[in-house]
Amino acid sequence: MRAVTVTPGSQNSLRCIADWPEPPPEEGAILVEALAVGICGTDLEIIAGAYGEAPPGEERLVLGHEALGRVLEDPTGTLQAGDLVAGIVRHPDPVPCTNCAVDEWDMCRNGLYTEHGIKGLPGFARDRWRVQPRFAVGLDPALAEVGMLLEPTSVVAKAWDHIERIGRRAEWKPQTVLVTGAGPIGLLAALLATQRGLSVHVLDRATAGPKPDLVRALGATYHATQVAELDFEPDVVVECTGAPVVVMAVMYKVGPTGIVCLTGVSSGGRTIESDPGALNRALVLENNVIFGSVNANRRHWEQAAEALARADRGWLNSLITRRVPVGAYADAYASQKDDIKVVLDFQA
Ligand code: BGC
Repeated sequence: MRAVTVTPGSQNSLRCIADWPEPPPEEGAILVEALAVGICGTDLEIIAGAYGEAPPGEERLVLGHEALGRVLEDPTGTLQAGDLVAGIVRHPDPVPCTNCAVDEWDMCRNGLYTEHGIKGLPGFARDRWRVQPRFAVGLDPALAEVGMLLEPTSVVAKAWDHIERIGRRAEWKPQTVLVTGAGPIGLLAALLATQRGLSVHVLDRATAGPKPDLVRALGATYHATQVAELDFEPDVVVECTGAPVVVMAVMYKVGPTGIVCLTGVSSGGRTIESDPGALNRALVLENNVIFGSVNANRRHWEQAAEALARADRGWLNSLITRRVPVGAYADAYASQKDDIKVVLDFQA
């Protein structure tokens, strides 16, 4: 069967291997036929040789952590043949740490977790994969075209879960949300904000292309300005650019008792001028919380599946700006202007 793979750490090693072995039974009882995988910045970093780790003793890593598949067989009876399914990306560390011990692997403390298609576990960009029931998430049958958005939605479901937990430290009735960055994570964070009945603002550099209309279609307001120029102080910021200047600006901009959730993985190495004392003063005097958020546990995947099932299907579909057949896999990983979410299609 086909598998899209790289040799982690070496550039230009992206290959589709035609005779990759079938998934071994140890991988999980549920056998799945791949429909599609979504592609994100992490895949591009792995392809560039900057990130990623092959399974122990192997040279190549199968890519793909934003899975969508159809169950071929499930002898455990957890799912039925024909069901749509996604595989949870992260597996708990083997020690396990205090969080992995209670299945909060998204909060792993020792870094020994593994991740499909990223760190030590084969990804989902292959014709067939297997999954254990505890890492399999069923999807509404109506999500056959867009279900590969479940993984990025799980990441923002976790972000919102933690924002709300932090909010409960005091009486808190948030009204205004600022999302910085209108890529897939930003747009999905905005979707979950509108589902919470909040007043949503999305800021991005783009003045043309599909982003402004996608934001407006949610009933949210689009801003192609600088953060400092916004004429309101948000109660919540979900920062999805990872751009140092934007990250700094939202920490100043957030309102009293406001919460800033950082989700963008910056590359680092760029320095900007800052005044940590002034920033500290602003944060302390306003009881602000700034926190980072990555990955998601099973609870978040289930929340994400519900959020997608409730969302407008046409809107979700328009996040997917290119569907590339596996035969042309290299095109899928070459970024194009106006790309939002590119998916690799295993059925085309
Ligand atoms: C994935 C996360 C993962 C992170 C770090 C992201 O692209 O969505 O699930 O934890 O990369 O590897």
